[in-house]
Amino acid sequence: EVWNPNGKYRVVSTKSMPGTRWINLLIEQDCRLEICTEKKTILSVEDIIALIGDKCDGVIGQLTEDWGETLFAALSKAGGKAFSNMAVGYNNVDVNAANKYGVAVGNTPGVLTETTAELAASLSLAAARRIVEADGFMRAGLYDGWLPHLFVGNLLKGQTVGVIGAGRIGSAYARMMVEGFKMNLIYFDLYQSTRLEKFVTAYGQFLKANGEQPVTWKRASSMSEVLQEADVVNSFTYSIVFIISLHPVLDKTTYHLINKESLATMKKEAILINCSRGPVVDEVALVEHLKQNPMFRVGLDVFEDEPYMKPGLGEMKNAIVVPHIASASKWTREGMATLAALNVLGKIKGYPVWHDPNR
Ligand code: DGY
Repeated sequence: EVWNPNGKYRVVSTKSMPGTRWINLLIEQDCRLEICTEKKTILSVEDIIALIGDKCDGVIGQLTEDWGETLFAALSKAGGKAFSNMAVGYNNVDVNAANKYGVAVGNTPGVLTETTAELAASLSLAAARRIVEADGFMRAGLYDGWLPHLFVGNLLKGQTVGVIGAGRIGSAYARMMVEGFKMNLIYFDLYQSTRLEKFVTAYGQFLKANGEQPVTWKRASSMSEVLQEADVVNSFTYSIVFIISLHPVLDKTTYHLINKESLATMKKEAILINCSRGPVVDEVALVEHLKQNPMFRVGLDVFEDEPYMKPGLGEMKNAIVVPHIASASKWTREGMATLAALNVLGKIKGYPVWHDPNR
């Protein structure tokens, strides 16, 4: 699909993206925009080299693509100056290779914060109240009357939510769970951001002033502390770590952060949510853990070998699985497309790249 065929700058988008604002931005600024209409979901390096061709000023790409040395060399050879991922995560992008070939890299943070946090909250609720299981039960025609034991789940109020990675998304999620469900909070963030601290303190004061039980919070000194608290705490006088929600970036330090050993330190009835990147969780160990601990539940938006699930995961009743849709609201996806276009356009036109993960 070609827009503005006579435009001076050739910009390629490897996928069609929601909305029209991003298209208008590019064509109004003298770009010839080519949108790949290839039906297959994941494009190979060879497919993308063919799209880049002999002359290409910039590319908007997707998190399913492998943006390494080969692609940046090809883009640079075609005169390309800019690449933007339509994602906040950029573990599919070799930023060093881009720097080496003089290609600026952009990503799309901010616009997906609340949407992603809302999905993490949805998975938390769905897991706690066994909503997906109960839906399946109903549809299978198995409901034959109210019973005291039918799909009994967990109350969130007064329990503790653990957040690993309290950046933009993790903080938004924590706020939703604390404010929305009056959960206590324990969190760990590598950069030791204080934004959550300020919020929970102020919220606690507000509850107190209104004669309500204040929420408690704790900033953990390590990632494993968040997980381990659950193991050592099992009295009613202290909150347990009830939900662990993962929001870190994927890198060497977070690869298989959740593994056989760390799962073993978690509460047997804990809920694990992952809306970050699949490889943060050792999925084989997780399947085994789910089998051994039927009261342990997970809500997963991401998988180790997307689009595939490890054998057995799809059969587990205590797992809720959705296909990487955390940022999938109309407003957010249109915003991501717009930011990606601005990133590429900015570099081509000599303005600063809107969002540069290097900065
Ligand atoms: C991202 O942006 O990194 C998400 O995984 C997709 O929105």
